[in-house]
Amino acid sequence: MDRWQTIIEPFRIHSVEPIRMTTVAQREAALKTAGYNLFNVHAADVIIDLLTDSGTGAMSRDQWAAIQHGDESYAGSPSWYRFLEAVQNLFPFKHVIPTHQGRAAEKILFSVVGGHGKVVPNNAHFDTTRANVEYTGAEAVDLTPPQDPQAILPFKGDMDVAALERLIEERGVTSVPVVFMTVTNNSMGGQPVSMANLRAVREVCNRHGLPLFLDACRFAENAWFIKEREPGYADKQIPDIVREMASLADGMTMSAKKDGLANIGGWLAMNDDSLAESCRNLLILTEGFPTYGGLAGRDLEAIAQGLEEVVEEDYLRYRIQSTAYLGEALAASGVPVILPIGGHAVYIDARRLLPHIPPLEYPGHSLAVELYHEGGIRGVEIGTVMFGRHADGSESAASMDLVRLAVPRRTYTQSHIDYVIEVVQSVARRASDLRGYRIIHEPPALRHFTARFEPL
Ligand code: F0G
Repeated sequence: MDRWQTIIEPFRIHSVEPIRMTTVAQREAALKTAGYNLFNVHAADVIIDLLTDSGTGAMSRDQWAAIQHGDESYAGSPSWYRFLEAVQNLFPFKHVIPTHQGRAAEKILFSVVGGHGKVVPNNAHFDTTRANVEYTGAEAVDLTPPQDPQAILPFKGDMDVAALERLIEERGVTSVPVVFMTVTNNSMGGQPVSMANLRAVREVCNRHGLPLFLDACRFAENAWFIKEREPGYADKQIPDIVREMASLADGMTMSAKKDGLANIGGWLAMNDDSLAESCRNLLILTEGFPTYGGLAGRDLEAIAQGLEEVVEEDYLRYRIQSTAYLGEALAASGVPVILPIGGHAVYIDARRLLPHIPPLEYPGHSLAVELYHEGGIRGVEIGTVMFGRHADGSESAASMDLVRLAVPRRTYTQSHIDYVIEVVQSVARRASDLRGYRIIHEPPALRHFTARFEPL
């Protein structure tokens, strides 16, 4: 297997979508109209869209076939039972509550367990998770230890267990409604969490009688890293590794737009009966009846099939290798990236690449805009634009200024990725020409989605 260098996509292409080629002049105009915010750019004006790996993957022949089996009965649809079985096969939690996407699961859970005076520890909250915690008045605390972005370590997504102990000690156990672990750790570079770390966090939770939940969006990618990197797991099957991760938790939130291999969907799951009852009551208010939640029967079918495909080893080997192929090529040409390469994305360290742009002039934003301008590639800033504005109105530099190039699942071929490598290298060679940005309009929360910018 290791004899060949070329990564072969373990699928043939069965249906194609055209990519519209654009010129630099066209993209310049698109940027002006969009207020230099890549979230405002029309996707039809993007050549390679690496904005997110969420809901952007290609479904398989078997998923499209499953969609034809979608049964739209309001209550007790066969599609619901297929979905439930597929979820519980990997995550045997007693209660499964289907939602339209991950953040709906977060909103429901934190509406029940959050509130003023509460604090939710996580290895690192994703932005919607943090926003949903904070919306209830609770505090969201990240406990991944600070790390050298270049240090090659196997499990940089792990939580600092001693910091968790201290937090529980300082705030008091009654102020912590739940402990969260995000696998893989998206905000920290898509880095995996080890089974040993999950076990250590479980142990702390046991000692204090606290529930542990997984934010399991990229559970299969995390399981693959455990198989590859953690002693004792090389010969285990991926579904068994996933079930072991689940066995250490009391519940989960999930976005099926990632490792559900679907374009929409999610769920909330738990063992606790009374928590499940409170969550189901909220589900009915905003999502739907408990056997379809926020989804059509056909979506439940697509997710059920996706959950079977995402744990296949040929798929996961290709998935993790092809993300690494992009990252390692950039690293080899001197572009500073977070190492080792994570599962779903490559994170360019824009603060290091553009040391002449101070954090409050948004180096990550500047690089992301230039990758679009130069080559029609859309990534996303994960830095001071995303995290720099605080609830009290103040602004400060985020811990890092990154540009994430997230790779949609089964969507682009190796030649698309070769093009991305060429464009990034070309922009990096003239990094000193790039300028910072100023925000001319921003909303009160989650400003990165809608803010408008002006080049300095
Ligand atoms: N948790 C994590 C770790 C995520 O990465 C995301 C979404 C969510 C929760 C929310 O799920 O989008 O279905 O509501 N991440 C996407 C991204 C949007 O681009 O990283 P959702």
